Amino acid sequence: KIIPVLLSGGTGSRLWPLSRELYPKQFLPLCSERTMLQDTALRVSARSGAPQAPLAFTQPLVICNQEHRFLAAEQLRQSRCDARGIILEPAGRNTAAACALAALAVEADDPDALLLVLPADHEIRDADAFHRAVTIAAAGAAAGRLVTFGIAPTKPETGYGYIRRGHSLDEADGAFTVAAFVEKPSLEVAERYLADGSYLWNSGMFLFPVGRLLVELERHAPAVLAACRAALAGGARDLDFFRLDAEAFAKAPAISIDYAVMEHTDRAAVVPCEIGWTDVGAWSALWDVGSKDTAGNVVIGDVLLEGARDCYVRSDNHLTAVVGVENAVVVVVDDAVLVADRAQAQDVKRIVDRLKADG
Ligand code: GDD
Ligand code: MG
Repeated sequence: KIIPVLLSGGTGSRLWPLSRELYPKQFLPLCSERTMLQDTALRVSARSGAPQAPLAFTQPLVICNQEHRFLAAEQLRQSRCDARGIILEPAGRNTAAACALAALAVEADDPDALLLVLPADHEIRDADAFHRAVTIAAAGAAAGRLVTFGIAPTKPETGYGYIRRGHSLDEADGAFTVAAFVEKPSLEVAERYLADGSYLWNSGMFLFPVGRLLVELERHAPAVLAACRAALAGGARDLDFFRLDAEAFAKAPAISIDYAVMEHTDRAAVVPCEIGWTDVGAWSALWDVGSKDTAGNVVIGDVLLEGARDCYVRSDNHLTAVVGVENAVVVVVDDAVLVADRAQAQDVKRIVDRLKADG
């Protein structure tokens, strides 16, 4: 069986002022009328038209900050996607630790399960194609592979991992070995990979056999695994919630699964897929995926436009007018207004960093 693991611990700072520490983007309705966590959970629910037994999805395991436990539980309940458990991090220690916690939490009951690790803040427009990719990945994972989902790159994005595809896997038609995995290359290197044509983006979604993931963590990130083991052993189960021993968990090195394991393991495989995937990282991505008027504007809420082109304008409670402006992002919430150049939407994070520094 496949256990979805929903990574829901990010802060989403580039989507300020909508995404806030107490209410980060995965808990907001950004791409549909449901929140991103709900969309992610529904995509892998038994009702999603998902693969049937033996590939059926179980209820998801959610990993989030402890501050968000009720938000996560309530949103999942609302969409009738109750979790099989919610692991509460006292403070995030990045994705290697989150993956280790998931594997350790299910190891005793489901040593042969496959973990479908899904960031709770990605948009996937073609769920059927995604389910087909998972079916291919399951054959690779059953053969002991750590499987990634590869996306054809369209620009030299430096915030992603790059995968050079190797030879095709005997055990899984449509899956390939990974000849090289390079996390977040420099712009120069990313441009070379894009021109080369044999590289894919790592989508950040994975299908891991539980036992093999633990072996690879032991080999490549033993300190992460040891800290997570101690944190679970010293914690407590309280209804659906797994509470961790904060002191033990704080000792886990904060490193991503990409740097810790995927760059080093010789067990990686990749399923290239076309699933309409977007990492909804910044406002520019929401313009990319949003539905546009004839002048290329994406408009949400109480907004009037006059002569605006290719803008993203969102206003939840205030009448907002935009006149004669191109390629802008305008986001208005009760206590803050953002006006940004769409091409510089990544830099919104710097504002958040400054706000944090000023307390
Ligand atoms: N629970 C939990 N705890 N979740 C976390 C933590 C944590 O400490 N840190 C990050 N996450 C969640 C984020 O919310 C996000 O959904 C996911 O894990 C990935 O983390 P990011 O911080 O967004 O990673 P990234 O975007 O820099 O890079 C990853 O994704 C790219 C594609 O979007 C990598 O896997 C890249 O290789 C990949 O290309
Ligand atoms: Mg990301």
